[in-house]
Amino acid sequence: SQLTDVTLKSYDKNKESSELIQRALMDNDFMKHLEHGQILTIMDCMHPTSLTKGCCVIQEGDDGSTVYVLEEGMVEVTKQGKKLCTIGPAKVFGELAILYNCTRTATVTALTDIKLWAIDRQGFQTIMMRTGLIKHSQY
Ligand code: CMP
Repeated sequence: SQLTDVTLKSYDKNKESSELIQRALMDNDFMKHLEHGQILTIMDCMHPTSLTKGCCVIQEGDDGSTVYVLEEGMVEVTKQGKKLCTIGPAKVFGELAILYNCTRTATVTALTDIKLWAIDRQGFQTIMMRTGLIKHSQY
């Protein structure tokens, strides 16, 4: 099946980055309810990426395919041109389109050069579903 065929790839991280990602996930309203093993697996599978100041990370209305954790720098969240907030390090963003299977609810723009950790929809959903299936099979 599509589920069992997905190979989760892990990416090396230093202790600081591992801890920052875990902190970000546990600080997020949805992610905080995941099992610790799921948090660790998501952390393990996140890959590094970076963008320069002014770049659009997420465009409102697009199909979403990636969840991010901000490691360094600042981003701004806007909706229909109106500023909602700025986000700094150790925060998750881009989770809503994946969790709710909707289009991107806001635009996210880099206010500075930024370093991010990213996981794609397929990897994210595989981690959620695999743990769910394992749990289900125990009952
Ligand atoms: P997503 O909808 O996937 O893409 C845009 C992201 O901006 C969204 O996920 C959230 O992570 C973030 N976002 C949307 N609305 C707000 C808000 N009101 N405050 C902070 N972050 C938001």
